[in-house]
Amino acid sequence: MQIAVVGTGYVGLVTGTCFAETGNNVICVDIDAVKVEKMKNGEVPIYEPHLDILFERNIKEGRLAFTTDLKSAIEQAQIIFLALPTPPGEDGSADLSYILNVAEELGKIITEYKVIIDKSTVPVGTAEKVTAAVAKNATIDFDVVSNPEFLREGFAVNDFLKPDRVVIGTRSAKAKQILEKLYKPFVRQGNPVIFMDEKSAELTKYAANSFLATKITFMNEIANYCELIGADVDAVRRGMGTDTRIGNRFLFPGIGYGGSCFPKDVQALVKSGKEVGYDFEIINSVMDVNHRQKVTMAQKIKAYFGDDLSGKKLALWGLSFKPDTDDIREAPALYIIDELVAAGAEITAYDPAAMQMSKVK
Ligand SMILES: NC(=O)c1ccc[n+]([C@@H]2O[C@H](COP(=O)([O-])OP(=O)(O)OC[C@H]3O[C@@H](n4cnc5c(N)ncnc54)[C@H](O)[C@@H]3O)[C@@H](O)[C@H]2O)c1
Repeated sequence: MQIAVVGTGYVGLVTGTCFAETGNNVICVDIDAVKVEKMKNGEVPIYEPHLDILFERNIKEGRLAFTTDLKSAIEQAQIIFLALPTPPGEDGSADLSYILNVAEELGKIITEYKVIIDKSTVPVGTAEKVTAAVAKNATIDFDVVSNPEFLREGFAVNDFLKPDRVVIGTRSAKAKQILEKLYKPFVRQGNPVIFMDEKSAELTKYAANSFLATKITFMNEIANYCELIGADVDAVRRGMGTDTRIGNRFLFPGIGYGGSCFPKDVQALVKSGKEVGYDFEIINSVMDVNHRQKVTMAQKIKAYFGDDLSGKKLALWGLSFKPDTDDIREAPALYIIDELVAAGAEITAYDPAAMQMSKVK
């Protein structure tokens, strides 16, 4: 199949490379000319374990290419993935401008049937907005599908090739048939492709991320309490996690969730709820507790050395929001650094993958 992937970040590049790996011809489009030039020269612009091997193989086999030219990429493809940023706007809602601007452009370009697939994390109702934006300029039949991505940075290639499930939101029989065929190689072991309507697919992603953020935050609260009463949170975690109704994943306490997804998605769900008069009380508390957790480490250091850290030299290991990624977006380490530097400390930080990204910031 001929595929175009618009946006070659953590999601787009992994998506494009993995679809090339299963024999499709993929052209990846990005607005960042420097990034595209690097990729054309065989350089993977992000750190993601195992991506380099697939990337190199598929470029060599002629199945994976890169361009800044949206028009030529779209003309060649029947299937178009949008893997564009949806950062939080000033009010916490997802900024859809990247997606809607590209959707308007698509409407001007398409001259034959296309399936336009939203892989970005977007609020309920976005497929309708994308449809309207494309239709503004389009004179031809097309379908807009919601296909949220569940990959984890650090495990992205494996997660994409062997997903727990694939969620596809569409009411079009034609789009359903195309996507069923496209995803067939990824679900051979019985992992399901779950078809639903567009709105439910959009919400599934927010619900999943908010649930996981809640699980992490719950465990952080239990850990804080353990410290006060002298219980061992690691023992509690093992005792709890062996209950199959609870499961043992996402129960490790830490310095709060961060990254480019959980903070913005949790916030966006709350904002979407407000728009229809619904107040997500649990999720609001999760955001508050997580915020508190992020500065706990700095507070512990101050409790030991005093509030004035002038003249203190501190070493900090780990800058990214979790291991095996160079992504430092919303990383708790950055909050801790700000807090400690504001108190006068001098910090020397190290990360095995995220040094370059940290210098850029
Ligand atoms: N990073 C993750 O782990 C993850 C997982 C699941 C879902 N998501 C969602 O996927 C979406 C993309 O996330 P990401 O982390 O890959 O983002 P990213 O910031 O890493 O990548 C986005 C890419 O889009 C490019 N871009 C911006 N405007 C463009 C345009 N007009 N045309 C072409 N390219 C353009 C940027 O240059 C960048 O390369 C977001 O909605 C995110 O919430 C991310």
